[in-house]
Amino acid sequence: MKISFLLPFLVDHFGFSDSRTFEQRYLIADKHWQTNGGSILFYTGNEGDIVWFCNNTGFMWDVAEELKAMLVFAEHRYYGESLPFGEDSFKDSQHLNFLTSEQALADFAELIRHLKETVPGAENQPVIVIGGSYGGMLAAWFRMKYPHLVVGALAASAPIWQFEDLVPCSVFMKIVTEDFRKSGPYCSESIRRSWDAINRLSSTGSGLQQLSKTLHLCSPLTPGDISNLKDWISETWVNLAMVDYPYEANFLQPLPAWPVKVVCQYLKNPNVSDTVLMENIFQALNIYYNYSGQVQCLNISQTTTSSLGSTGWSYQSCTEMVMPFCTNGVDDMFESYLWDLDKFSEDCFSQWGVKPRPYWITTLYGGKNISSHSNIIFSNGDLDPWSGGGVTKDITDTLVAINIPNGAHHLDLRAGTALDPSTVLLSRLLEVKHMKKWIADFYKNAKV
Ligand SMILES: *[C@@H]1O[C@H](CO)[C@@H](O)[C@H](O)[C@H]1NC(C)=O
Ligand SMILES: *[C@@H]1O[C@H](CO)[C@@H](O)[C@H](O)[C@H]1NC(C)=O
Ligand SMILES: *[C@@H]1O[C@H](CO)[C@@H](O)[C@H](O)[C@H]1NC(C)=O
Ligand SMILES: *[C@@H]1O[C@H](CO)[C@@H](O)[C@H](O)[C@H]1NC(C)=O
Repeated sequence: MKISFLLPFLVDHFGFSDSRTFEQRYLIADKHWQTNGGSILFYTGNEGDIVWFCNNTGFMWDVAEELKAMLVFAEHRYYGESLPFGEDSFKDSQHLNFLTSEQALADFAELIRHLKETVPGAENQPVIVIGGSYGGMLAAWFRMKYPHLVVGALAASAPIWQFEDLVPCSVFMKIVTEDFRKSGPYCSESIRRSWDAINRLSSTGSGLQQLSKTLHLCSPLTPGDISNLKDWISETWVNLAMVDYPYEANFLQPLPAWPVKVVCQYLKNPNVSDTVLMENIFQALNIYYNYSGQVQCLNISQTTTSSLGSTGWSYQSCTEMVMPFCTNGVDDMFESYLWDLDKFSEDCFSQWGVKPRPYWITTLYGGKNISSHSNIIFSNGDLDPWSGGGVTKDITDTLVAINIPNGAHHLDLRAGTALDPSTVLLSRLLEVKHMKKWIADFYKNAKV
């Protein structure tokens, strides 16, 4: 059996076999921090620019005063400005070799230790890790792997079970479909019919031209673009489901309140010609891409903000983060797609020169066998497609699930607004209650 070694490559510290270092970016806010009886809330950064995550995690700012907390936002290596090899970081698999979740967790551990050693008053304070999405997985895994450094974790919208066959590969797209089905009559049906409309239109040169024009695309479609076009449209629906927030927001894109409902206003009639159906699809896409009214044409190479590091994530999904997805076109509104690990593996090899290790995450973090851990809150909104791979039932008294009806992707981590549904207010109260208990237990045990 071949064992691959993980090369240590840690911030500011000597590794065992590799002594190079790089600069990791982190942000600190200590306005409400109290050295007497306070706490440290530590955001475990995920696949993007940490300033952008910081600005989209208002919950931490909202609770800082109540928890007398110092806020720390730590950037994940290979994202934002924390690039180990600068511009060469994504050059090849040699340079990317150090991009793993376990290395990222180790960076966070080093940073917590560094802060405790260098910030006067921080040394004897309880630390709570908080994260959303992949960052939520990192928060949960951090508590599992480094329980001596943190008293607990809030893992928001963290799909820690979206691996191997821990959940059905179909669950994600079913939730997306359900969001559209609930948000307007015939909405998901219109989308389901659009794929064949695209196939029919794109089968002739004039149809292809017409389709490019109808969708206001920046560059005219060629027959080779159709599969990309359909992926781009699918990803748009997925993103809309993720950010179906109850108020106007700008996370992946600037969007109106309840954007899926708004989109569905254009998708009420599936019984129309292919051309009319695609005009309606365009109106719907235009809500996502052009709510600002600033966009001249739609670009099928772009689906989201550039604050997310799609290059790094593409590599991570080809190594550790192997998440199976599938559709059948019947229980969901997408074209049928079978999960094919061999094909996926080949694509990864041709793109990055690496082959995925689909079983590594569960080997490393335990899959469903995690009941020996403690003090982790798993929060999920039922509108969020990622909730399908999340923990939505309590595992033990201290590994607890908080479900947020009508909540989208980590709605609970966003800043409170007057338009928040009562469900998310209640979830945040519960989360604070758990965190206060972890903090109180820490100080009680410190006194003994
Ligand atoms: C579309 O047509 C089908 C069959 O012709 C019909 O059952 C359905 O109600 C129609 N839907 C709408 C929204 O008109
Ligand atoms: C975006 O919206 C603006 C303002 O409504 C409009 O002028 C422009 O044509 C739209 N862009 C596209 C691609 O439709
Ligand atoms: C479309 O997006 C790609 C990738 O971000 C970019 O390279 C390209 O310039 C864009 N095209 C237009 C016309 O904006
Ligand atoms: C979890 O436990 C089950 C039952 O003992 C076992 O079959 C499975 O391999 C375990 N999974 C992991 C990731 O250790």
